Amino acid sequence: MKSTQYSKKVLDHFQNPRNVGTLEGKNVAIGKVGNPVCGDLMEFYIKVKDDKIEDIKFKTFGCGSAIATASMITELAKGKTIEQALKITRQDVADELDGLPPIKMHCSNLAADALKDAIKNYKEKQKPEIQPVGHKAGQREIIGEKEFLNRGVYHQADDISQFKDKRVIVVDKGDSSIELAIELTQHTLRVIFATSLKEISANSDLKTKIKQSNVKILYESEILEIKGLKTAEKVIIHDLNEDEEYELFMDAVVILL
Ligand code: FES
Repeated sequence: MKSTQYSKKVLDHFQNPRNVGTLEGKNVAIGKVGNPVCGDLMEFYIKVKDDKIEDIKFKTFGCGSAIATASMITELAKGKTIEQALKITRQDVADELDGLPPIKMHCSNLAADALKDAIKNYKEKQKPEIQPVGHKAGQREIIGEKEFLNRGVYHQADDISQFKDKRVIVVDKGDSSIELAIELTQHTLRVIFATSLKEISANSDLKTKIKQSNVKILYESEILEIKGLKTAEKVIIHDLNEDEEYELFMDAVVILL
């Protein structure tokens, strides 16, 4: 295939995606990942029995390549053991689809990562509920936090309608911040929850609620600095997993006290 063309298989999986939908039940684990660059979202649902993926579904707000790769990955993973499914790479998916244009390879990350996240979630559900130890993002002071207080940085959010249609980042401060992030989605669909942890630290009910909401979760992400002119305009985020820093434009950062 030429680098800019889609294979017949990609078009087929895009036009007739397999295993679209959601799953419910006790032995269902959910994986949800977002791409902060293109803003697309992917959710995977897996039902595991005897260590095998008995059923799998996906839901995405993604491009055609994201749909095709997610559809293919569900076919590859169905019936596999957890460990076998973990070994599926984005290259495997691209190969099964007879290739993807190089510019679209990053889209296949979304599906592969969402499946991995669902498996991680499944494994965590197997462990007894323990409160992760570790500091939460925002426990130490963020550069610019005081400077932009009430000018884009908020320590409380009494009237959340003020955030209507705004890009809001909620820093992980435990249950109340998770509840706030979910509540904010009634006023804006651009809510990001930034946590320095690898998993949401909350009871399983709240954990499920935020994962099923429209909140985009940035795991292992710490806000280092808030920048702007008169008001806060962007944040510098440290991706603890990749050990990289990047900028994210936003209208408001909520750091509950
Ligand atoms: Fe975002 Fe394809 S452009 S997933």
